[in-house]
Amino acid sequence: MTMAHAPGKVILFGEHAVVYSQPAIAVPVREVQAQVLLEAGLPDQGTLVAVPDLERRFLLREADQDDPLARIVRLALRAVRQKRDPDLTLTITSSIPIARGMGSGAAVSTAIVRALAKHFDFWLPSRAVSELVYQTEVLYHGTPSGIDNTVVAFEKPVFFVKEEGWEFFWVDKPFLLAIADSGIESSTKEVVGDLRRRYEADADRYQPLFYRAGEIARMARSAIERGDQPALGRLMDENHELLREMGVSCPELDRMVLAAREGGALGAKLSGAGWGGNMIALVTEETRGRVNIMLRLAGATRVIFSRVR
Ligand code: MEV
Repeated sequence: MTMAHAPGKVILFGEHAVVYSQPAIAVPVREVQAQVLLEAGLPDQGTLVAVPDLERRFLLREADQDDPLARIVRLALRAVRQKRDPDLTLTITSSIPIARGMGSGAAVSTAIVRALAKHFDFWLPSRAVSELVYQTEVLYHGTPSGIDNTVVAFEKPVFFVKEEGWEFFWVDKPFLLAIADSGIESSTKEVVGDLRRRYEADADRYQPLFYRAGEIARMARSAIERGDQPALGRLMDENHELLREMGVSCPELDRMVLAAREGGALGAKLSGAGWGGNMIALVTEETRGRVNIMLRLAGATRVIFSRVR
């Protein structure tokens, strides 16, 4: 029996703009995890994948080519030099909310790759895991920037620029995030695709917004590196305004962002694709209780606190 895990993630700065080659910052969220349990199967059963929470169970040899779960299992088996379909049962569970911008797809894929590598005693560096997971992100998201698979596979805060790569950076003072779920499912593929169409119709309107979001991500990195949380909070507020102007927020997220600020958060913004999913607020030990209450009153269906270090 082999077990492997992978964390969720949130985007701190620069979502959407990152798809247009601007820098973005993402951090792992270890308070939620995807988990894969791998057990020996019956002789000649082949690879069986079970997702009890979704009431899904399928044999790898019968799965479609473009099924994301089947794709990552096939890619991982190839990466660990398994030519045939081994007799294994993979059971997938996850506490990461699905379709909420918390990287649930990337985390499940990462946990699958880790479990198979561990089982076959094959060492895969995080970079290789991230590259494999990227290939399934394409099925979930269409044109992913690659930030989700990077932050989940490395499990460290990353400063990421599409096609250039990522850098780890110094977190001078650990800080506390409230991550609040709007309760609304949102498809990253749809939101990214819709913004793409609007951008193509009017690039002059959207390009400056992406550019400014990139500048904010650079300033935010420097604020994190010098432990300046008030500055970080102000940058979150400014990034949220830009995301509103990009047309990816929604009344529920805006209400939660305002509520968090009223509760004393240093800053707040939507996180991930938008049109639902999660928002994040920068809080302290003193303000977390009040922000939690304000977020729930504003409609949050769940609030997680996560310390970034
Ligand atoms: C999704 O977590 C973040 C987006 O910027 C899309 C991407 O980077 O691929 C909205």
